[in-house]
Amino acid sequence: MSNVKFFQEDNLPLEMHKVRIVQKLNLLPVEERLKAIQEAGSNTFLLRNRDVFLDMLTDSGVNAMSDRQMAAMMIADDSYAGSETFYRLEAKIQEIFGTKFFLPAHQGRACENIISQVFVKPGSVVPMNYHFTTTKSHITLNGGRVEEIYIDEALEVTSDHPFKGNVDIDKLVALIKDVGVENVPFVRMEAGTNLIGGQPFSLENLREVRKVCDEYGIMLVLDASLLQDNLYFIKTREESCRDKSIREITREIADLCDIIYFSARKLGCARGGGICTDNAELADKMREFVPLYEGFLTYGGMSVREMEAIAVGLEETMDLEVIDQGPKFIAHMVRELEKRGIPVVTPPGGLGCHVDAKQFVDHVPQEQYPAGALAAAIYIAGGIRGMERGTLSEQRDEHGNETLSNMELVRLALPRRVFTLSQVQYTVDRLAWLYENRRLIEGLTFVEEPKVLRFFFGRLKPVSDWQLKLAEKFRQNFGDSL
Ligand code: F0G
Repeated sequence: MSNVKFFQEDNLPLEMHKVRIVQKLNLLPVEERLKAIQEAGSNTFLLRNRDVFLDMLTDSGVNAMSDRQMAAMMIADDSYAGSETFYRLEAKIQEIFGTKFFLPAHQGRACENIISQVFVKPGSVVPMNYHFTTTKSHITLNGGRVEEIYIDEALEVTSDHPFKGNVDIDKLVALIKDVGVENVPFVRMEAGTNLIGGQPFSLENLREVRKVCDEYGIMLVLDASLLQDNLYFIKTREESCRDKSIREITREIADLCDIIYFSARKLGCARGGGICTDNAELADKMREFVPLYEGFLTYGGMSVREMEAIAVGLEETMDLEVIDQGPKFIAHMVRELEKRGIPVVTPPGGLGCHVDAKQFVDHVPQEQYPAGALAAAIYIAGGIRGMERGTLSEQRDEHGNETLSNMELVRLALPRRVFTLSQVQYTVDRLAWLYENRRLIEGLTFVEEPKVLRFFFGRLKPVSDWQLKLAEKFRQNFGDSL
């Protein structure tokens, strides 16, 4: 059997790049992993990287950069105002999105801060396919409210709907009528909808949303942070886009939106962000906030090196062989987990693999943060750092009650082009072991609970000594091996 056939039959992803810089990893013994997670208050955000073997916390700012990006960083033009680097980035954005104005910001949430301060007022309602944590916080801080108008399939863990990130158009219209168009400053569409498992919207759905926005005279804002995965899914799953290039699809998407913002920690595979618009009036309203919060208009809090890397990264995003690597590895991981009966979000999305903690540890009540508990258990089992995306990532309501999340997920992010197939396989094996021993996992309770974005730095403890028991079981099963 030829290798090609072997790869085709197993549907194995094939790297279309080679690795030329490596970083040594460290896998601690299980007793030390137990100690590290307990010192971190059972919160994977508080682990030190030296204690982590495979860092699947996020894809944010940790995607592998290309040789061309690194080379571009060397020719950055450092200047407080008017650097050539800024104009190169601006020109690349104008070329790709067709938008005239680019307001740089230090990362995605900084764009959300500016957009929310300018457009959200007390009483505003912002409809969206799904919220993201920082987005919701900025909108509520400005007195507004988020309304999610996703399709029914969005929250079905296992589904074959290709575009679970779509908006339900009837719900959108009903919502606008209900709250009054004057209270809706904009509709927000999130590419590669993060919190429901990196699920895309279709180009057709975006067009329909645009139609509604036109009818009611409402702005359409795109969060393009995870656009590269969404582009891949539109190209491969949307029949009418099969023959379109990634560049053409990108331009069609951009032409439908009034404002596009992005985290360049994801889109562009570097670190930074920015707001793009073709509308001079909108740009004028937002511009003054850039020097106030970010930095002068030609750097916005970013280093010029990062700006050079983003310009090249955006160009590389137009290459299907570059952007298909993430989704292909994720699809492989999802298939391998499914084979072992591990509950995981389907169809596979972008960003990472999303394990369904509601099913995995169905004996842990949501008030005890099943996804947080599972994330801590995954670290103990393999030194793998994932991220809780469930009730812990929500904020309490105005009366201090828990907001139980629709989904309880542990996200195992696959930063693009970082992990090898054997590291993915190792992760699958450790999850399979954990699944066999899932009854050992119990819940968590807060020891220190911050009021805003509590998942970032809140400290918790296990409700019993279950973490110790899990580590002991690991030792029994694996002996001296790590
Ligand atoms: N929008 C989306 C869809 C995101 O996923 C993120 C960040 C942001 C906005 C904020 O961008 O981090 O540059 O300020 N997501 C990261 C994650 C944090 O791990 O998923 P940022």
